[in-house]
Amino acid sequence: MANISCSSITKAYGTHTVIEGLDLSIPDHEFVVFLGPSGCGKSTMLRMIAGLEEVTSGNVVIDGTDVTHLAPGARGVAMVFQSYALYPHMTVAENITFGVRRQGVPKPEIARRLKDVAQLLGLEPFLERRPKNLSGGQQQRVAMARAMIKTPKVFLFDEPLSNLDAKLREKLRTEIRKMHLALKTTTIFVTHDQLEAMTIADRIVLMRAGQIEQQGTPDEIFDRPATRFVADFIGSPTMNFLPASIERMGEALTAAAGPIHISLPPERFSGLKTGQQVELGLRPARMDLAPEGSANLLEGRVVLIENMGSEGQVIADVHGTEMSFVTKDFRSVRPGDRVRFAIRPEHVHVFDRASGRSLLNDGL
Ligand SMILES: Nc1ncnc2c1ncn2[C@@H]1O[C@H](COP(=O)(O)OP(=O)(O)O)[C@@H](O)[C@H]1O
Ligand SMILES: [Mg+2]
Repeated sequence: MANISCSSITKAYGTHTVIEGLDLSIPDHEFVVFLGPSGCGKSTMLRMIAGLEEVTSGNVVIDGTDVTHLAPGARGVAMVFQSYALYPHMTVAENITFGVRRQGVPKPEIARRLKDVAQLLGLEPFLERRPKNLSGGQQQRVAMARAMIKTPKVFLFDEPLSNLDAKLREKLRTEIRKMHLALKTTTIFVTHDQLEAMTIADRIVLMRAGQIEQQGTPDEIFDRPATRFVADFIGSPTMNFLPASIERMGEALTAAAGPIHISLPPERFSGLKTGQQVELGLRPARMDLAPEGSANLLEGRVVLIENMGSEGQVIADVHGTEMSFVTKDFRSVRPGDRVRFAIRPEHVHVFDRASGRSLLNDGL
C-alpha cells in the first residue's frame, strides 16, 4: 500500500526535454491511467517512478520515502511490460517465482504466494508448461503473476495489452480491474488507447508533450474537457468541431457558424463576449435525432451510416461540414436523406480558438 508523489519532475536527453516540471500526486489504492499520444512521455514517467530511468531533476516519493535515487529493487514496485520476456527454458511456475527465489523469500512462503496468484489469474492448469505452449494472453498473465508474487506496494503497467487481439484485450482489462478490486494495490497503467483508459481508470492523467494536460475521473475528462486537445483525444467517434462567432443579445447567447445558430446556456458561459472567435465542440453521442420544429437543430444530408450494432454512426453534411452523430435510430435513415439533430445545450463545449482552452464557467 502506498501513495506516490512526484514533484517538479524533469527529464532531458541531452538538450531535448521530454518531461517538464511535472507534479503528480496519487493516493493509496488508486488506479491511475497515464494516457496520451505516442511519444508524449508516458513510459518515461513510469520508468522514472520505477527507477529504470534517472530523473534529470525533481523527486519521487513512494509511501513517505524519497526513492528518487534508490535502485528499482528497493522501491517496492513491480512493473509489467508490453513484451512479456518470459524465460523459455523455465516452466510457468519457475518463471513466476524466479524473482522471489532470487530475493531469498522462504520456500513455503513462495509456494503459498504462487498458489494465490495462480488462482487469481487462472493459471493453475498451466504451472508446469513452458511459455511456448501458452497463448499470448496466458503469457501476459504469467508476466502479471511474476509481478504480483512480489507483493509490491505499487504496480506499474506499460501498455501490457497492446500485443493482444481485441477480444483478449477486453478480457484481460476486466481481469486487471478485478485484481485491483481484490488487492487494492496502488496502480499506474500506461496506454495510448482512450477507450482502455476510460474503462479501467479511477483517474486519468492525460499527457501531452511531457506535461499534464488534464487529470480527472473518466466522466470529468469526457464531459468537461479542459482543452480542445483533451476533447479531441477522448471519445469515439471523435467530437465534432465547428468554428463559430459569439453573439450576445441581452440575456440570449448564440454561437453562429455561417448559417448554423446554436443557442448557449448563458449561465454556463458567462464570460463570452460578442464577436469572440470560438470553436464549438459537439459529442456525436450527445445529440438526438429530432422531429421538425425542435429548438437548436443541426440539419444536414446523410453521407454515410456505420452500423455499430446497438447504435449507429450517422455522418451528415451540415452546410458543407461533415459531422457525426451516434443514434440508436440509425436504421430509420438512408444516405441522401435529410436529417435533423437536436443539440442539448448542456452538452455544447466552447473552446477559445487561439488557446484551445475551454470557456465553460469554472466549477461546471
Ligand atoms: N533513451 C532516449 N533517448 C532520447 N530520447 C528518448 C529516449 N527515450 C525516449 N525518448 C524520447 O522521449 C519522448 C517520450 O518517449 P516515451 O516516454 O517513450 O513516450 P510514450 O511512452 O508516451 O510513447 C519521445 O520523444 C522519445 O523519442
Ligand atoms: Mg510508451
